[in-house]
Amino acid sequence: MKILLVGSGGREHAIADALAKSPRLTRLFIAPGNPGTAEVGENVGLDVADHRAVARFCGENDIGLVVVGPEQPLVAGLTDALEGAGIKVFGPSKAAARLEGSKGFVKDLCRANDIPTAAYERFDDEEKALAYLRAEGAPIVVKADGLAAGKGVVVAETLDEAERAVKAMFSGVFGKSGAEVVIEKKLVGEEASFFVLCDGTRALPFASAQDHKRVGDGDVGPNTGGMGAYSPAPAVTPEIEARVMAEIVEPTLRAMRDLGAPFKGVLFVGLMLTKDGPKLIEFNVRFGDPEAQAMLPRLEDDLLELMLAGAVGALPERPIRFSPRAALTVVLAARNYPGTPLTGSEIRHVERASAIADVIVTHAGTRRDGARLVAGGGRVLNVTALGETITKARSLAYRGVDAIDWPGGFCRRDIGWRAVAREAKA
Ligand code: AMP
Ligand code: GLY
Repeated sequence: MKILLVGSGGREHAIADALAKSPRLTRLFIAPGNPGTAEVGENVGLDVADHRAVARFCGENDIGLVVVGPEQPLVAGLTDALEGAGIKVFGPSKAAARLEGSKGFVKDLCRANDIPTAAYERFDDEEKALAYLRAEGAPIVVKADGLAAGKGVVVAETLDEAERAVKAMFSGVFGKSGAEVVIEKKLVGEEASFFVLCDGTRALPFASAQDHKRVGDGDVGPNTGGMGAYSPAPAVTPEIEARVMAEIVEPTLRAMRDLGAPFKGVLFVGLMLTKDGPKLIEFNVRFGDPEAQAMLPRLEDDLLELMLAGAVGALPERPIRFSPRAALTVVLAARNYPGTPLTGSEIRHVERASAIADVIVTHAGTRRDGARLVAGGGRVLNVTALGETITKARSLAYRGVDAIDWPGGFCRRDIGWRAVAREAKA
């Protein structure tokens, strides 16, 4: 079967690697892809915002399944356009992608279906939002309703900070995404992510992971897209997984079906593990980046078969098979990320890292400049290692990192610290 994979990040390189293991794959196209995906399949310079052009490409190339990596094309309705043209897609419709595209929609869905999440109110009026803040006090969390590239959330420790966030959002820093805000209670606990594959009716547990959002060691500095991850997340015990499925995932799938917007694709459940049990922080409608780079190398199942089954409403009844080993991913970013990254610096010896057994390098913002590989964006490379424990995977991942020669880049040196501390205690 021929597959078209949409996206260009480390997540998409990891998905491409996993799809390439399927005996059913005959040809893999990636739009637009990156220098790493070019080694696994064929990059194509399609404009994915032009839904008709994507559909035409699929028709001309006999594409059996389209897999969409990032949220943007899903929220923009790429799935609807392709399915309208008779093409199978593993990814939600525009209506189902509201689970990521509108925080207010998700909060109302939680309220209507008794799904555990932080108490909240929605506002489209600045004065009312400010009055509510003053009545509630700090700490409190302010969120822009729509997509804001991960920057639309302010966990405010003081009332002043919360008021500034509300004013900024209504002044239009996020454009239409901030025309409405959600204000919610701050949840306390450990964060973890849990991923499920969905086929519109059923959800199959995939894996858990933990991300590191802050740019600096010790979880300090500004938020990023994610500086590293590991899987599984030891905090997500089998009991917690069962509660998340029963209390969050299953009621959500039922509610979406009842709304006429059945959800298929990857559901990414962002959780706070509170003393009262797991609570939903947010949904995403896709794999995480870099969570996918840590989870997919553990997969011992056929991703193509699973995604195809998800696309046609026929996920298997059996659990998905994973290696019992852990995996840990370190993100290498260009200097100055998450500010304006310094691009163009040369990266050498990537192959020395990938030559180490159980080390996998995936590309994100790399670029070819003649024979040279150079930095082309913020997050540039991911080094993943597998190991019996997270501690072992981490040592091996940093061996991989140290094999790469890239003075223009940096990484966090403490990825996995929470899990490593937990393993040291055990
Ligand atoms: P989101 O974009 O909704 O995932 O929010 C980004 C980050 O903000 C999350 O990963 C959490 O660290 C934090 N966050 C969001 N909502 C809450 C909440 N209600 N309580 C505490 N932290 C939160
Ligand atoms: N790493 C977080 C995300 O993909 O949203």
